Amino acid sequence: MAKKVVAPARMISGGIVVPGDKSISHRLAILAALAEGTSEIHNYSPAADCASTLECLECLDVKIDVEDAGKKARARGSSARAVPTVRIRSSGLAGWRKPSRTLDAGNSGTTLRLLAGALAGQPFPSKITGDSSLRRRPMLRVIEPLEKMGARIRAREGGFAPLEIAGASLHAIEYTLPVASAQVKSAVLLAGLFAAGTTAVIEPVRTRDHTEIALAEFGAAVHRHGQRIELAGGSRLQGRELAVPGDLSSAVFFLAAASILPGSRLMLFGVGLNPTRSAVLDFLVQMGARIRVTELAERSGELGGDLEVASPSSLALRGGRIAGADVARMIDELPMLAAMGPYTADGIEIRDARELRVKESDRIAVLAENLRRMGARVDEFDDGLRVAGRAETAGAGLRGAEVDPRGDHRLAMALAVAALGAQGETSIRGAECAAVSYPNFFDDLDAVAQR
Ligand code: S3P
Repeated sequence: MAKKVVAPARMISGGIVVPGDKSISHRLAILAALAEGTSEIHNYSPAADCASTLECLECLDVKIDVEDAGKKARARGSSARAVPTVRIRSSGLAGWRKPSRTLDAGNSGTTLRLLAGALAGQPFPSKITGDSSLRRRPMLRVIEPLEKMGARIRAREGGFAPLEIAGASLHAIEYTLPVASAQVKSAVLLAGLFAAGTTAVIEPVRTRDHTEIALAEFGAAVHRHGQRIELAGGSRLQGRELAVPGDLSSAVFFLAAASILPGSRLMLFGVGLNPTRSAVLDFLVQMGARIRVTELAERSGELGGDLEVASPSSLALRGGRIAGADVARMIDELPMLAAMGPYTADGIEIRDARELRVKESDRIAVLAENLRRMGARVDEFDDGLRVAGRAETAGAGLRGAEVDPRGDHRLAMALAVAALGAQGETSIRGAECAAVSYPNFFDDLDAVAQR
């Protein structure tokens, strides 16, 4: 798929099961690979990023089988999606072996940063790299705390991958996160498993807590006291059977689509609703979106449930502003929220979000450029952007255009949703990059978009 053409839709209707959560899948795979015995992970994310994590773990001699529950149905001609169950066997914290080649994290920052933490305390050297986007993303944020723990890491000039990790004996530290990053917190905690003493991470701004939850599920001694998370070094992990909830960051594309197209109504089943991830629901509801949680339950330590979304009766999405601590709480949903701007009365403003410039692309610049191509009025700031709403554009709305998400999966999907309400067709260059988090995205979207 070099280009994907997205035609406008009248409305969204039906039901959808989004793929397993990407963040949770990475963590369960890595921890299962450090646990004693066999773990079984159901509904593992089919994202290319999560396959990168499994490939790296296999290079470290961890035994992995992937079974695809949708395969038989597809062989019968159904369009069932891949629902992988991953079985991982390891002998515990000392189970990894020196890799015979460079580990490749692909496009996945989570794979590279979390594995850097787990590799820092191994008794062997390793090297880890990624694709051209990942090699441009900042790694000093993990190198610095890991070096404080005794790790020896060589990076490319400026702190970029590839990282050469010598492997060393580590000691616990107390570390206050200078950037609000769950990846950095997780890298330090994973290194903490191999460190002598109790590692403490203090997070001034709360970030997703899937690592803490997963560590506890595998039996590690991990505790949160307010903003401080403590982990005892040498904690033994036990293999387990666990289930991954659907990815709320993927569900958001459908919540947005149904909120901007009049007459829409959609059910989303089995979506992760961890409170450190669900701020986007509060924000959408404050904007005037109609979202109901129709089922709520805890599984494998994570909250999940079913959502029902319907377009606001008066089509009166208000718009809003995201800044401060809310940025970390909605970090992956910001592209979609920005692209909803032209469908709101007052527009969307995002500030304090410099982090967006060091994601899979410079999300501020690439969003601004592409939304402008579609006719949006966008102000770009160093730390965010403002996408004007109907009140300022005399209701002009978006028009179809040729857009280029620069290989960034979330931008490809956000632009596709924005295109549903535009005048005329939109052509998305390199739209196959959606597979980085959501391989079936365009099929799922076509299945619920009524034209
Ligand atoms: C992730 C954390 C976030 C997020 C990324 C996944 C994770 O990154 O943007 O897509 O799984 O820990 P940061 O923690 O670096 O902000």
